[in-house]
Amino acid sequence: YYGPVINPKSLTLYETIPSCLLAVSSTGNIEWIAADITASHVHETIIQKGCTDFDVVRLGSGEFIIPGFIDTHTHACQFSAIGTGYDKELLDWLADLTYPGEARFSDPDFARRIYPGVVRRTLNCGTTACCYYGTLHLEATKILANVAHAMGQRAFVGKCNMDQSAPQYYIEPSPSESIQATKALLEHIQTLDHSPAGEPLVHPILTPRFAISCSPELLKELGKLAAANPSLAIQTHVSENKEEVKEVHRLFGCDSYAGVYDTYHLLRENTILAHGIYLTDDEVKLLKERNVGISHCPGSNFHVNSGVARVGEWLDQGIKVGLGTDVSGGYSPSILTAVQHASIASKVIAMEARSGSHRNGHGHDHPHQATVQFSNKQLPIATLFYLATLGGANVCCLQQRVGSFGPGKAFDALVVSVRNDTGNPGVWGVTPSESEDVSEDVMKGWLEQFLFCGDDRNIRRVIVQGKVVGGLDFTE
Ligand code: GUN
Ligand code: FE
Repeated sequence: YYGPVINPKSLTLYETIPSCLLAVSSTGNIEWIAADITASHVHETIIQKGCTDFDVVRLGSGEFIIPGFIDTHTHACQFSAIGTGYDKELLDWLADLTYPGEARFSDPDFARRIYPGVVRRTLNCGTTACCYYGTLHLEATKILANVAHAMGQRAFVGKCNMDQSAPQYYIEPSPSESIQATKALLEHIQTLDHSPAGEPLVHPILTPRFAISCSPELLKELGKLAAANPSLAIQTHVSENKEEVKEVHRLFGCDSYAGVYDTYHLLRENTILAHGIYLTDDEVKLLKERNVGISHCPGSNFHVNSGVARVGEWLDQGIKVGLGTDVSGGYSPSILTAVQHASIASKVIAMEARSGSHRNGHGHDHPHQATVQFSNKQLPIATLFYLATLGGANVCCLQQRVGSFGPGKAFDALVVSVRNDTGNPGVWGVTPSESEDVSEDVMKGWLEQFLFCGDDRNIRRVIVQGKVVGGLDFTE
């Protein structure tokens, strides 16, 4: 690939490389990256590097490459309900809309009809790696894993565990049956073919829905299953809504929601907790000790009227954070929308802090925190970009493979266009025929406009492990 490349480096830094030559091997891994290569030196450079058999994809004007987006939390089984029930709060929303909708997946044919459209949509939105919740049904969730695998998306797929506090029509009959079905899903996903790089693209993930819907016995068995499989990822919800937190305290006779998961050994490096709005300082400290990642789901936090998460404080304490769309708590399956909502959420926090209306408005003490860089401030663009890519990779423990570009990493990428012929052009007015010298400043502007105003009209190619699997130019 030859053209402008933007590569996230850290929470506060991304690199813009205007004339970048990026070599991808036949297995889909990045071999090398060379900067400052003029158009006339592309072939020469490749041959110097020792390649003899190759194709060159030259990006057109107004096009650039970024790493694919990582959605660290979404519900594949809720896409049909997008946009409904946003005048409710979590517990009513679950009981009145979500559980009835999810119960329809007891019919595998329904799953076969719905899931291909879900994966197609997330892929075309630029999500190259996605953490999916399925329903509690084994068959339907196997179908979801098969679909993600067939469409070439990197994915984590989990079957909900829920054996209490749910309606009779949508509950698992016992902890042992819940565990048995979970093991069957793990075994099924392990049978799926590996990628050309020799590793699985689709991973199983333990998915206790949330503490409320799991009996102590079920949590205990899940903890045992996790202990027997250290590399098995875990996802659940935490401290999303005040009534939910109260209910967890009541059910488990405790005053720490995160502590419930910890009691059952479910907090570890490869655990992803969604939301976290009402985590106490002690709980945040616990998550840091366990090196747990948080999926920040700002769209859902606004639309199900949950609250505003204090992401800046998590980042200042060195907690791993990624973005989640949390469909259908959130209405958009696009990480671009999550970026926009994360920016708004951080601005709400910053405005509250300035007006002194929040507990932390006059500077909150964090004795264990070296620097206060993000707390009570709006998130910089570089940080938003990082959360959407490398931050998400960290949360999924995939940072060695994806989230940014480097030799040996998988080429999971988007070819983005901000040209006039996209149907969603930027103010830059780049025409298809134009060939211009692209400066780093121009690229910075392109990235900002794409993050805040872009959509799937601007995504030409979605590439996972070197293979084009979505975007405008993709044909099946
Ligand atoms: N907590 C438990 N289940 C859910 C769910 O489906 N969506 C959200 N946003 N929160 C939950
Ligand atoms: Fe969720």
